[in-house]
Order: sequence, then structure tokens, then C-alpha cells
Amino acid sequence: MKNSQKIILTGDRPTGNLHIGHYVGSIANRLALQQKGDFEKFYILIADTQALTDNAENVDKVKNNVIQVAIDYLAAGIDPDKVDIILQSQIPELAEMTMYFMNLVTVARLNRNPTVKEEIKQRGFSTSMPAGFLCYPVSQASDILAFGSTVVPVGEDQLPMLEQTREIVRSFHNTYNCDIFPMPTALLPENKACHRLVGIDGNAKMSKSLGNCIYLKDEPDIVKQKIMNAYTDPTHVKVSDPGHVEGNVVFAYLDAFCKDEHFKKFLPEYTNLDELKAHYSRGGLGDVKIKLFLNNILQELLTPIRAKRAELEKDVDKIYEMLLNNSKKASKVAGETLRKMKHAMGLDYEKFLKNK
Ligand code: TRP
Repeated sequence: MKNSQKIILTGDRPTGNLHIGHYVGSIANRLALQQKGDFEKFYILIADTQALTDNAENVDKVKNNVIQVAIDYLAAGIDPDKVDIILQSQIPELAEMTMYFMNLVTVARLNRNPTVKEEIKQRGFSTSMPAGFLCYPVSQASDILAFGSTVVPVGEDQLPMLEQTREIVRSFHNTYNCDIFPMPTALLPENKACHRLVGIDGNAKMSKSLGNCIYLKDEPDIVKQKIMNAYTDPTHVKVSDPGHVEGNVVFAYLDAFCKDEHFKKFLPEYTNLDELKAHYSRGGLGDVKIKLFLNNILQELLTPIRAKRAELEKDVDKIYEMLLNNSKKASKVAGETLRKMKHAMGLDYEKFLKNK
């Protein structure tokens, strides 16, 4: 089908509060898209059903994080008048679509998904893997296809899900001789440094389970403390020693967050990040100085987010109401897609009644 309208859909699993890795990796991108405004519809899906595929016993954890993630979005600047935040478990049509799509995907194909493979390894699943977990890419295809999404802003790790979704579109159209779904494409963040933010400990990924995150909701003193403890360069012992910028967490974060204007404001001896890096590399620049600079930048970003969060927390009911209302509307849209699917498959049994 021709992609005549721009419909954006993206999502997150509600397994923890959002951190600054999410901010650079996805939230900033979403804010830019929201600002641009050249879309018909923009959905952000809180994927609680997907989160349950490896959290069946932890429903409370997932449920509590639904509201936390919704608050994080709104506090970070997602505008509920422009973007529909929706909740996966409240849109039952997605599960029904998934049942039909699963018949078009082989178990072998699911086993080849590199992101799922990696997750299986991390979780130590061998024979204990829930079937729902292996199949979540199919359910993700339903998330995307139910609303006719054409643009899916995601990180690189989600590219296999998009590929799977595109295969399902082709297979559904071929098998049932129809043309229902627009072909969705991934939209990756522009700034390479932002694809994946390292953890404060230097670990390749900022992740809740590794305990190496700076959260959007962290108090100022916690943010500062985490930055002061960040991994830099173990060979940079004295200030006069030459330092390494590569693999240095503070510089990785500066790459992601620092703009030239920050120098004028917080560190006027330099005009840009290249100068700062050059000084650090040749020696004579201490870690405390670069850490305090980073702290100023992050505090400036996080202070308004924290203030907005405090405001939003005063009326959580209103946020639940928004989530449920949006999901109800989304459920109607998904229902229409499902009706078209069943028609293409010949599952529209009402026609037998009409002939009577
Ligand atoms: N798999 C995504 C993640 O782990 C979350 C997600 C669920 C998603 N459904 C989606 C992302 C649809 C994009 C589009 O973060």
C-alpha cells in the first residue's frame, strides 16, 4: 500500500524509569518530531504486554512502571495534545492480530532475530523460555501495523523487529491477496553518539539491571554524585598526565549532551568540545573540572523535567484517564484494521447472515 499519510508509532517497555540514555536515544528524537509536526498521527505505546513476556510473575513491577514511564514522557516534554500515549494491554485487538500473524512466521525465523537472541542470552533462558517471549517481535508487528504506522523511530537494536514487521506485511499481502498495510520504515536518531549511551561505570550500556543509570527523576545531589563517580581514564592519575578521551564516560556524555553554548555559560576558557578534548589528551586538565562541567549541563537539562514531574505527580488520576481514553480510541482504529484483515482472510462470517 502507498504510504500517503505519515503516521508515527514508537514505544517502550515499562520496566523502569527513563534515564538519560533514553533521553538522548529516543526522547530527544521524539521531541524533535513533535516539534516538526508534519504527521497525521503520532503514537507512543507503553508496551506493558511485551514487558510481561519475561515478567509473568512481576505484574506489579510492570504495572507500577506504566505510570512512571507516562510521567517521564510528559515531564520530558511530550505534549499530550500532539501525541497519543497509549497502553498496549488496553488494546485487545493487538493480541488478536498477533494470533493471525504468528501463522505467517516460522519458529526458525524467530530464533534468528539477533536482538531476541542477545536477550535470551542475557536472561539465561534455555528450555525455560516463555513462548510469548520468543514471539514478541510478532506482537510488536501488530503494534506497528494496527495503526497503519509508516514511520517507527527506534534505536538500532529494534531494526530486526522492523525487518520482521516488513516480512509480515509482505507475507500477509501475498497469502491473502490484499494490500492493507502501508510499509513501515525505521527512523534512527541522527547523532551517532546518541545511539547508545554507556553506563556511568563505563559498561557498554546504561541499564537498570546494571545499576549504572542517571534517571530523569534523580535529585540534583544524586546526579552530581553519580557524575563525580563516573569512570574516566585509569591512566590519568595526575592532572598533568595525558588523558584518554576514548572510552571515557564523561566525554561520551559530553558528546551526547554538550553544545557550544554550554562553554560560554559554564566553561568560558574553551569555545568547543574539540578544544576541551585536546587539552585533556595532552595533559593538564583534571577530571573534576570536566565532571563539574558535565554536571552543570545535565542539571540544566534535568531541573525543568524534575519540576514538571512534581507537578504531574499531584494528579496521577488524570494521567490514567488520559492513557485509558487514548487506548480506547486506538482500540477502535485497531479494530478497523482487524476487520480489514479478517475480510481479506475470508473470516467475515456475517455475510452468511446477510444472505439469509
Ligand atoms: N521493543 C521495544 C523496546 O524494547 C518496545 C516496543 C513495543 C516498540 N512495541 C513497539 C517499539 C512498537 C517500537 C514500535 O523498547
